[in-house]
Amino acid sequence: MKQFSILIAGGGSTFTPGIILMLLDNLDKFPIRQIKMFDNDAERQAKIGEACAILLKEKAPQIKFSYSTNPEEAFTDIDFVMAHIRVGKYPMRELDEKIPLRHGVVGQETCGPGGIAYGMRSIGGVIGLIDYMEKYSPNAWMLNYSNPAAIVAEATRRLRPNSKVLNICDMPIGIEVRMAEILGLESRKDMDIMYYGLNHFGWWKSVRDKQGNDLMPKLREHVSQYGYVVPKGDNQHTEASWNDTFAKAKDVLALDPTTLPNTYLKYYLFPDYVVEHSNKEYTRANEVMDGREKFVFGECEKVVKNQSSEGCALHIDEHASYIVDLARAIAFNTKEKMLLIVENNGAIVNFDLTAMVEIPCIVGSNGPEPLVVGRIPQFQKGMMEQQVTVEKLTVEAWIEGSYQKLWQAITMSKTVPSAKVAKDILDDLIEANKEYWPVLK
Ligand code: NAD
Ligand code: G6P
Ligand code: MN
Repeated sequence: MKQFSILIAGGGSTFTPGIILMLLDNLDKFPIRQIKMFDNDAERQAKIGEACAILLKEKAPQIKFSYSTNPEEAFTDIDFVMAHIRVGKYPMRELDEKIPLRHGVVGQETCGPGGIAYGMRSIGGVIGLIDYMEKYSPNAWMLNYSNPAAIVAEATRRLRPNSKVLNICDMPIGIEVRMAEILGLESRKDMDIMYYGLNHFGWWKSVRDKQGNDLMPKLREHVSQYGYVVPKGDNQHTEASWNDTFAKAKDVLALDPTTLPNTYLKYYLFPDYVVEHSNKEYTRANEVMDGREKFVFGECEKVVKNQSSEGCALHIDEHASYIVDLARAIAFNTKEKMLLIVENNGAIVNFDLTAMVEIPCIVGSNGPEPLVVGRIPQFQKGMMEQQVTVEKLTVEAWIEGSYQKLWQAITMSKTVPSAKVAKDILDDLIEANKEYWPVLK
């Protein structure tokens, strides 16, 4: 079997060690000859890189490993780039969350004005990675899950339409793991699903077992009482604040009990509730900096100090095995059905042909073949039209350096009450993002 060379872009990410351990756990399905890391923050990446070097030496010494901040070194001789960068890192996420909250608006990493601000930072970073990949490894594929994936995906469609980039999100997977638990199934792969929407903005329209039996009634019964809260859950979204989000799906479901909602819809449908339940001084970014970031960097430091992973609590990020599924689909033409963020192109019949939508695709060596979703109901169509306009205007604002379009984008977000509030938030965001955004005129 062919052995692959992988580049993890955003090597200093809190998810890197878990993903490397996951890759090592899947070598029988996806053989690897080389793993490299790339980041633009040498110091941050070195802390993770030194620990990963030890993990690899212990568990898979045959795999060549290196990390670098030099694009040529990193991107040369690569088959797959797994991209998870966060332009501006957690301190900027904190501002994305806190600035809108100061104005009484949802403060969230990927939704509302915070997501727009993050998008304006991410576009240049991700396009840069694509260009490095095409220069130094023109046959490689990029599996991108850098957020905000909806805006990043629209930017790749506009700016690099022929690039081999696949945009993917893990939220539907986390929810499907919970659905499988509700149904008493061993794996989410025992379900046959139909889903449509935008990234962090979608609905399951059918869930069936492999015999074709409708599983929606049983799911609806559970979700209408408990949301997606289940005893065991998925191993990615474990903290109390995530539990609140899973519980809130109960109220989101009430709006349209014929479908099952993505958890992120709460930010658009219950923004008042979200703001009331937010702590303006301590947001999710603070939780992550105090939690996951401290934990991962602390464990890496121990591994380096002891020159051994003995007693180390870093664990396999099993949930991320969807990345291996995707790489395998491309590498071995598996034709697995996966949810990807792709150009609509008629798959949702009554929706913008050029929208980047999250829908099931059959993935093979030539990339994704989207499945036909058909017509969607007026409620979802209306919501998606508003949100896709936010995403498209944000990308246009970035390309044209247009203040006007970014003001329109923020005004158009369902989380924002008026053009006045939108402008106040925008002016604060511009000040905070001076280092990262193009100049807006
Ligand atoms: P993190 O801040 O720990 O790591 C991000 C790394 O990216 C940092 O080391 C940073 O220095 C680096 N970076 C920033 N700009 C860069 C650039 N231009 N070039 C190279 N490296 C750059 O963040 P994290 O919490 O581990 O998350 C990483 C990313 O993965 C985020 O975008 C997050 O939103 C995303 N994510 C997406 C999904 C999904 O469902 N799509 C799931 C989990 C995480
Ligand atoms: C989900 C989403 C990701 C997002 C993550 C945030 O997994 O699909 O897109 O990055 O949640 O998690 P965090 O723990 O960083 O708040
Ligand atoms: Mn996501």
